[in-house]
Amino acid sequence: MSEKISFFMKKYQERIEELLLAVFPEELAEDPTVKAAMYSLLAGGKRIRPVLMYMVADMLHLDLSVVDDFAVSMEMVHTYSLIHDDLPCMDDDCLRRGKPTCHIAHGEAFALLAGDALLNRAFERVLTAVSKNAKTASAASYFAENTGILGMIGGQSIDLSSEGKKIDTGRLCELHEKKTGALINASCLIPYLIYAAENGEDRKLYDLIHRFSAGTGLGFQIKDDLLDVQADEQVLGKSTGKDERDSKSTFVTVFGEKSAQKMLDDTYADVYDALDELSSLGWDVTALRQFSDVLQNRVQ
Ligand code: IPE
Ligand code: IPE
Ligand code: MG
Ligand code: MG
Ligand code: MG
Repeated sequence: MSEKISFFMKKYQERIEELLLAVFPEELAEDPTVKAAMYSLLAGGKRIRPVLMYMVADMLHLDLSVVDDFAVSMEMVHTYSLIHDDLPCMDDDCLRRGKPTCHIAHGEAFALLAGDALLNRAFERVLTAVSKNAKTASAASYFAENTGILGMIGGQSIDLSSEGKKIDTGRLCELHEKKTGALINASCLIPYLIYAAENGEDRKLYDLIHRFSAGTGLGFQIKDDLLDVQADEQVLGKSTGKDERDSKSTFVTVFGEKSAQKMLDDTYADVYDALDELSSLGWDVTALRQFSDVLQNRVQ
């Protein structure tokens, strides 16, 4: 992880790393499915989604402990999505987070089970959060919606069924907004939903956070597409050039690198506009603004 990224994320990253260590009961530590899951979970992801969740929670003056269960669950679902994304039946990748992919290290069956276990355990955790604090109920249902067929899984479905096909710009945006945007969007809006349950709805605030999160989600995948052709594999921690190899529909394979870069910059212009508006309403967006700059210019 680059120094610049870790500087802005440190406080939140340390918090999430600590929580991730304890997601499965200790007595299951030697179970092969748990070992495979922990192998991927602790392999050194950037933790973008929990960090965004904590940053928005901080902006809204929420106690961070109110979103802990959601932050952990989001990273677990994200990690499961990566384990399955790398399987031979999907993107067939051998490098992830700088290490051999889960199925290379633990075999396909345990990689599949590891993904399943992370997903189920994440929902168990979200339900626990709701039972502890009923004000998190709408955040929980938003979590379910965005991780499922209306969100990330739906995006993966479009991604795989679009291999080798021409799709129009609208469909490409839908693909990106779902497969990657949905988890990032939910990470930013979950704190808002908890805030609204405690303080009442604020439509303007919702709209601005949504504009920020939608742009950040779409921008994250456009950048991922660019990094697939631009990045150094060692720094990126995953293989490059695979979108072309798999005839994927991405912003780079459809529009070319230059246009994809322009679309990324336009998307970020809107992200910064949303942050400026939040700031003019009195919300402190310093961390989110710095983090957006890091995400827009990341090399991994
Ligand atoms: C990779 O996500 C897959 C996409 C959704 C683009 P990240 O770039 O957040 O991966 P990690 O968590 O840091 O490994
Ligand atoms: C994966 O998109 C998105 C999800 C796992 C939901 P990609 O297939 O582009 O991600 P990488 O490039 O393998 O990380
Ligand atoms: Mg994929
Ligand atoms: Mg992939
Ligand atoms: Mg990719």
